[in-house]
Amino acid sequence: MNYKTLLESIGNTPLVKVPFASPATILAKLEYLNPGGSVKDRSALYLIEQAERTGMLKPGGTIIDASSGNHGIALAMIGAIKGYKVIITVTPKCSKEKYQTMIAYGAELIMCPSREFMEDPESYHAQAVALHKRTPNSFMPDQYYNVENRNAHYAWLGSEIWKQTEGKITHLFVGAGTCGTVSGVGRYLKEQNPNVKVYAVDTATSFKSSNGNPKPYKIEGIGIDFVNEIADYSVIDEILPVTDAEGLGILPVLSQRYGLLVGPSSGAVAASVIKKIPTFKEGDLVVMICGDSGRAYLTKNFYDTVDERILPALQVENQIVIE
Ligand SMILES: Cc1ncc(COP(=O)(O)O)c(C=O)c1O
Repeated sequence: MNYKTLLESIGNTPLVKVPFASPATILAKLEYLNPGGSVKDRSALYLIEQAERTGMLKPGGTIIDASSGNHGIALAMIGAIKGYKVIITVTPKCSKEKYQTMIAYGAELIMCPSREFMEDPESYHAQAVALHKRTPNSFMPDQYYNVENRNAHYAWLGSEIWKQTEGKITHLFVGAGTCGTVSGVGRYLKEQNPNVKVYAVDTATSFKSSNGNPKPYKIEGIGIDFVNEIADYSVIDEILPVTDAEGLGILPVLSQRYGLLVGPSSGAVAASVIKKIPTFKEGDLVVMICGDSGRAYLTKNFYDTVDERILPALQVENQIVIE
C-alpha cells in the first residue's frame, strides 16, 4: 500500500454542487480542504520546490515573504515539514486565527503598519524585501511580484478544474489579490476553450476597482491594490467589484443555509456569481473558487446572524436565489 505524504495531499480538492436557483450548474471548488486550509498551499509548494531545484533555497535556509495570511500559513506548514525557518511580515488586518496558525507551524511573524502602497518602505512587502536582503541564505518567494506564482496555478489548479469538469466549464469566478490564481487558471482554461468566461472578483474600493482612489475594506485575501506583472488581463473577461456589505453579508447565508463555512474572499466570489445569475443559461457550468475556510475568521463575527439587508441583493428577477 502506498500512502501519500502531507505535501503530496495538496490539491485534488472536491468540486461540489451548490444549489443556487439558476439555469446553470454551479460548482464550488473547495480549496479550503487543502492541508494548510487554502488555495495558497499549491503556489507556496510550487515556489519552494522550484527554488530548491534552482538552488535559490538551500538546506538550512530561511523563507521570508509578506502575506495577508494564507500564503504565510502555507509557507510555514511546508517550511516545518522541509526544515526551513520561516519569517512572515503581516499587517494588523490579518485575522487573529491566521496569525496563530502561522505561529503554530513555527513561523516567526513581523507586524508591519498598514500602508496604502507596497513601495512605502514601511509596508509589509518592503519590509520583507529588506529583511531578505540582510538575511544570509534566505529565499523570498515574493508572491506579489514573482510571475511563477501565476505559473503554479496554470500548471496545477487550471488543469485540475479542466479535468474535473471534463472540459465542460463555461464560467470561472476567482478572487483576485496577487492575481496569480485568476491569471494562471484563466490562461489554462482559455487555452483549452477560448469561450470560457473568466471573472476576477475584486474589492469595490481596491486601488484597481476605485481607479486609483482606494479606501480600506474588511474583506481579507483579495483586493487588487498594486500594479504587478502577474496580473494577465488578456485572460480576464471582467473584473467584478464587491462591497464589504455584499461579500461579508452573504457569509452567514452560505454557512447557515448551504453548509459552506467559507472565508470573506469566497463570500465575495459567491456574491458575484449571484449577481451574474441572470446571464447564465441552461447547460452552463459555473465554477467558483472557495479559497479558504470561515474557521480562520470566527473571531470576526461574520457568521452569527443573517443580515436581512443583504437579502434583496440575493434576489434575481424577483426570484430569490436561496432555494
Ligand atoms: C482566501 C484567498 N482567496 C483568494 C486569494 C487571492 O488569490 P491570488 O493572490 O492568487 O490573487 C487569496 C490570497 O491570499 C486568499 O487568501
